[in-house]
Amino acid sequence: MEINVWDGNIPAAGPPLFREELYKLDQLMIDQSWSVDAWNGVWQTPNNYLLATLSPIIGFALFLRSPTEKLGHLLKVVILPEYRSQGLAEKLLRTSFEVLGQQGLDRIYLEVACNNLAAIGLYHKLGMKQINYCKNFYGPQQDAYKMMLVKIVMAE
Ligand SMILES: CC(C)(COP(=O)(O)OP(=O)(O)OC[C@H]1O[C@@H](n2cnc3c(N)ncnc32)[C@H](O)[C@@H]1OP(=O)(O)O)[C@@H](O)C(=O)NCCC(=O)NCCS
Repeated sequence: MEINVWDGNIPAAGPPLFREELYKLDQLMIDQSWSVDAWNGVWQTPNNYLLATLSPIIGFALFLRSPTEKLGHLLKVVILPEYRSQGLAEKLLRTSFEVLGQQGLDRIYLEVACNNLAAIGLYHKLGMKQINYCKNFYGPQQDAYKMMLVKIVMAE
């Protein structure tokens, strides 16, 4: 399946309804989905973000780049339920890491709910390490791990 990386050109990106499709996928993240206003922040400052999408849009990953450090924040990765367990999130993230590495970033971090075993398994497979435990991060009794990938490994 084809992967598109949108880097600084997000507003103009993609086919009609592109933003609506991303917004609908994001609603699958339930407690962690964003409002339209929050998404507008992405469309208004596209240079701060890197977005990778599968084509057709059955999954995406969204990163925020630090303005001061060689550091990326993985904000979201989601795959439509019927397309899960086919290696698509792994492929999406490996491609994104490669692009971010080419841009000079050397670290990626994220937060993940402690009960999200699929995502934790995915991040471990990609070499991410748990660096912190954040109590009530997503709300009462919704704890999170902070995870980090140090030194993005580039494919030759
Ligand atoms: C997490 C998510 C993105 C994984 O997507 P996916 O395309 O199914 O994942 P992949 O098929 O690429 O899996 C890659 C690896 O992740 C791990 N993994 C994936 N699903 C898993 C599961 N249900 N349980 C444990 N490990 C799992 C495995 O190590 C897997 O490698 P393997 O197939 O060789 O065992 C998907 O479940 C999802 O969209 N969840 C809802 C949104 C979400 O929670 N996002 C993360 C927020 S931090």
